[in-house]
Amino acid sequence: MKVTVIGTGYVGLVSGTCLAEVGNDVLCLDVNPEKIRILNEGGIPIFEPGLQEMVRRNVAAGRLHFTTDVERAAHHGTIQFVAVGTPPDEDGSADLRYVVAAARNIGRLMTDYKVVVDKSTVPVGTGEKVKAAIADELQKRGVSIPFSVVSNPEFLKEGAAVEDFMRPDRVIIGADDEQAVFLMRALYAPFQRNHERLIVTDVKSAELTKYAANAMLATRISFMNELANLAEKLGADIEMVRQGIGSDPRIGYHFLYPGCGYGGSCFPKDVKALIKTASDDAGIRLKVLSAVEEANDAQKHILTEKLKGRFGDLAGKHFAVWGLAFKPNTDDMREAPSRELIADLFAAGATVTTYDPVAMDEARRIFGEDARLGFAKTPKEALSEADALVVVTEWKEFRSPDFDEIRKLLKTPAIFDGRNLYDPKFVRGMGIEYFGIGR
Ligand SMILES: NC(=O)c1ccc[n+]([C@@H]2O[C@H](COP(=O)([O-])OP(=O)(O)OC[C@H]3O[C@@H](n4cnc5c(N)ncnc54)[C@H](O)[C@@H]3O)[C@@H](O)[C@H]2O)c1
Repeated sequence: MKVTVIGTGYVGLVSGTCLAEVGNDVLCLDVNPEKIRILNEGGIPIFEPGLQEMVRRNVAAGRLHFTTDVERAAHHGTIQFVAVGTPPDEDGSADLRYVVAAARNIGRLMTDYKVVVDKSTVPVGTGEKVKAAIADELQKRGVSIPFSVVSNPEFLKEGAAVEDFMRPDRVIIGADDEQAVFLMRALYAPFQRNHERLIVTDVKSAELTKYAANAMLATRISFMNELANLAEKLGADIEMVRQGIGSDPRIGYHFLYPGCGYGGSCFPKDVKALIKTASDDAGIRLKVLSAVEEANDAQKHILTEKLKGRFGDLAGKHFAVWGLAFKPNTDDMREAPSRELIADLFAAGATVTTYDPVAMDEARRIFGEDARLGFAKTPKEALSEADALVVVTEWKEFRSPDFDEIRKLLKTPAIFDGRNLYDPKFVRGMGIEYFGIGR
């Protein structure tokens, strides 16, 4: 099939590449010429395991192309995926400016039947807005060309995005017409040869499903973070509690890890947007989700509080920070807890040397040239001259460090473990003070 993917970010690039991998003829469009230049020169603008090789392979096979040419993109695909960003507006609602712009471009330029597929995470009702925008453009042109609008929310996880797309747990298709469902079913068939995992719904239910999924996962995290803070005060170990409740199949082990808060480009913004949709469009205050958000905002400062609890005034102190990305296997630092921590430390007069396997360029872009922030080439290098070590991202390479080395290099041998990577008893046995989350 001929497929256009509009927006070549984390979702668009992965989706487009995986669709090319199974034989489709894919054209990825982006308004950012720098991204398209990097892709056309054989690079990729983001870090995502396995993606670079797959991009190269499909470009070489002539099935995957990149462009900034809106007209070419509008003509190319019968299926037009919209995978542009939907960042939070000032009031927390999803900013649909890019989605609507993409829809208008299609309406302005299309010459034959199109299935326009919202892959971006968009509030309930966006399908109707996209339909209206395209219809409006067609009317301005005085033409009548058939088109369908489908909601196909994306559930891939950064860090495992290629695998998630190639082997989806489910594919949600929200559509009102048979022809669009037929085409979407055919497009996704190669990804579910074992058994079909397509769930066909109406457009609004598909849109809400995406928010419901992220809101549920965020709720589990905030719930565990609150319990962790309680366990700490009561003298219980949240890790024991986690295993105790995770063993119940009704609860399960996934997404029960306490830590220094959730971040990334999805949970924070989607929780906010759902709260906003509920209040503005339905007059309902989502009490549980408001608390989830409040708990997470506080949790992002938990490591700073622990550092202050141990050292008092942080002015003049220097800390090693391991991990910048909001989670392992990505360079994404959108809403990452590391950003709040580093900002807190700067505000308190402390300085930082940090190490992250892939997100340091992103951090340089975010923080700019700042004498208070140093970058180390190895985790070990970050430790020298530091008063303590703070672990913010659970990268595999941090899981089994050389504790002897840590003790020798830190001025005050102390680890603040924002991801509960280490065994408190073991670390303390190595002569290092240990501060975890809820332990
Ligand atoms: N990142 C994730 O893990 C993830 C997972 C599931 C869903 N989502 C959702 O998918 C959407 C995209 O997320 P992302 O992380 O890929 O964003 P991103 O910021 O990485 O990429 C969006 C891209 O769209 C481009 N763009 C904006 N307007 C455009 C236009 N009119 N035409 C062409 N390109 C345009 C931008 O330049 C950018 O490259 C969001 O709604 C997000 O919530 C993201």
